[in-house]
Amino acid sequence: MPTITFIRPDGARRDLAVAEGTSLMQGATSQGLDGIVAECGGNAMCATCHVYVDEAWAGRLPPLSEDEDALLEGAAAERLPTSRLSCQIVATADLDGLVVRLPDRQV
Ligand code: FES
Repeated sequence: MPTITFIRPDGARRDLAVAEGTSLMQGATSQGLDGIVAECGGNAMCATCHVYVDEAWAGRLPPLSEDEDALLEGAAAERLPTSRLSCQIVATADLDGLVVRLPDRQV
């Protein structure tokens, strides 16, 4: 099971094992991680699961869809080039060690 590191805005890190085939959002919320709201439950409709992918990993993820791109424009926190929706990133063995940062707000 890949381990994903989530870093809060205050620098606190949490390593979570996320089952392959489930999204980072699901892995985080099911393990009680603060900082991801996921109002729409992973249906790519809310942008409250926004994360910043570590730059070293940004090019190793599948490209974002048009819907994800459009939703990120409405995210509560600043959009950066590495912004993604964590409900649209599915954990795979290749993503073991992935690092994402949480924005300072989701709503
Ligand atoms: S949970 Fe709503 S867009 Fe990801």
